[in-house]
Amino acid sequence: MALPKINPTTTKAWKKLQEHVRKIEDVHLKELFASDSKRADNFSINWQDFYVDYSKNRITNETKELLLELASEVHLEEAIKSCFLGEVINETEQRAVLHTALRASINDKVYVEGENVIPEVFRVKGRIKDFTNEVVGGILKGHTGKSFTDVVNIGIGGSDLGPAMVVDSLQFYKNHLNTHFVSNVDGDHVNEVIKKLNPETTLFVIVSKTFTTQETLSNATTIREWFLESFPDDAIAKHFVAVSTNIDKVKAFGIDENNIFPMWDWVGGRFSLWSAVGLTISLSLGYDNYEQLLLGAHKMDQHFKEEPFENNIPVQLALLSVWYNNFFKAESEAIIPYSQYLNQFATYLQQGIMESNGKSVDRNGDQVTYQTGTIIWGEPGTNSQHAFFQLIHQGTKLIPADFIGFAKSLHGNQEHQDKLISNFIAQTEALMNGKTYDEVLKELSDSGLSQEEISKIAPFKVFNGNKPTNTIFIEKLTPESLGKLIAMYEHKIFVQGIIWNIFSFDQFGVELGKQLAKSILQDIKNNRFTNHDTSTTNILNFYKKNS
Ligand code: F6P
Repeated sequence: MALPKINPTTTKAWKKLQEHVRKIEDVHLKELFASDSKRADNFSINWQDFYVDYSKNRITNETKELLLELASEVHLEEAIKSCFLGEVINETEQRAVLHTALRASINDKVYVEGENVIPEVFRVKGRIKDFTNEVVGGILKGHTGKSFTDVVNIGIGGSDLGPAMVVDSLQFYKNHLNTHFVSNVDGDHVNEVIKKLNPETTLFVIVSKTFTTQETLSNATTIREWFLESFPDDAIAKHFVAVSTNIDKVKAFGIDENNIFPMWDWVGGRFSLWSAVGLTISLSLGYDNYEQLLLGAHKMDQHFKEEPFENNIPVQLALLSVWYNNFFKAESEAIIPYSQYLNQFATYLQQGIMESNGKSVDRNGDQVTYQTGTIIWGEPGTNSQHAFFQLIHQGTKLIPADFIGFAKSLHGNQEHQDKLISNFIAQTEALMNGKTYDEVLKELSDSGLSQEEISKIAPFKVFNGNKPTNTIFIEKLTPESLGKLIAMYEHKIFVQGIIWNIFSFDQFGVELGKQLAKSILQDIKNNRFTNHDTSTTNILNFYKKNS
């Protein structure tokens, strides 16, 4: 069954929401709280170790009902079923979308073209486990008989961002292996990494779903050449492994067939950390932690599949995002984790969210007439409070924000943790309440300023508040809770794509840049700059003169 192809603006709910927003626009969150003592309970979800409070949003019960009506009119429930059943919902590439199958349990059955893929998923997981245990345990050795000390992940996009973010976020759980990531085609990146490495004790994991990506192949080639300066060709088999769907190309690159971990077309690059693309995660955290990550994601999958929409975390978050994006005309969303460990989380989500839903043609092939994908950005708190929070508090733009926090500190430093969490809570309260002119006046007169000074400075100190936030509070950062959190955003992406009537699982937009870069590279090599516009020709000449 194909996905429904309903233009959301033609639904009854959409029209009602357009009218409804006019009522809500002028209502302050403070009034909403004052008029409903149960608001926080009504607009929050307690699920396992997650507490998701979405009451600090500019919504009423009616908003929630209308958004749920919208979900039903675009047949969200049927779309979720189609996805989990392995139907070909990535129609533009004629593929199923089954990253959920990678974290399914062994007794589940998921069919692709009539074949249950779960046994094959578990066969590869078995290989990841054995390989991890042998590398971490020092059983598998390099060419000279020494155990590995370092692992280098060579990949880009989904073959880099997911593993890099997870390894960094879960560094508390890491083993002794040093982990490095090489992604950018900028030669300074690869050279900075290899200058710290001893090839004798380093394992290289080349990750590329297609094995055609310029960046990854260039970096892998440079690293192989550097490695071969120290060792003979047959040492490659002991130091290089690859993860790919393109087995022929990997073999042509010179990697032993036994060193190839397969993945499948029905796993999208940006959703692939749950496949063998996560090999570096398993190597650096140990297989058990990798399994816990998958288990967390599986639990979120169950929640997403089974929980009625009114209490369904990814569905509610997606609907709120649609509410702001399409009815309040908000253009971006901030992701603010109050955990330094989640330093790379927003960067990781940028690919997932913006590559998936950055589309302007709908599932009927027509140009959309409404806004789709949101711009995602963010940095951990409290650092971000001292960077861009000013604009969220007092700027002219509406920026809904997700505040993500963990109740327990991993190192158990309670003094710091209390301060961190005070900031986490204070910011959402401040964004909601703001500070009125009267409050500012009182504060200034209490501080002993003269009347003249007060009236001069007061307007600048007023905060309107009414800024929406979600609080996603989790008991503790563990492999399992991180797995849940990532899967939560994956499902949010899916729901938004369904509502916007777009295909979320292709990325043709990225291809144009790739093609142009190839032809310009040829022009640089051939020293031929005339077939471009004058701006591009001048830029090429500047490069030629100065490189
Ligand atoms: O950025 C485009 C993209 O195709 C991503 O979707 C993908 O994650 C990345 O390039 C890397 O692709 P590959 O794993 O095939 O090297």
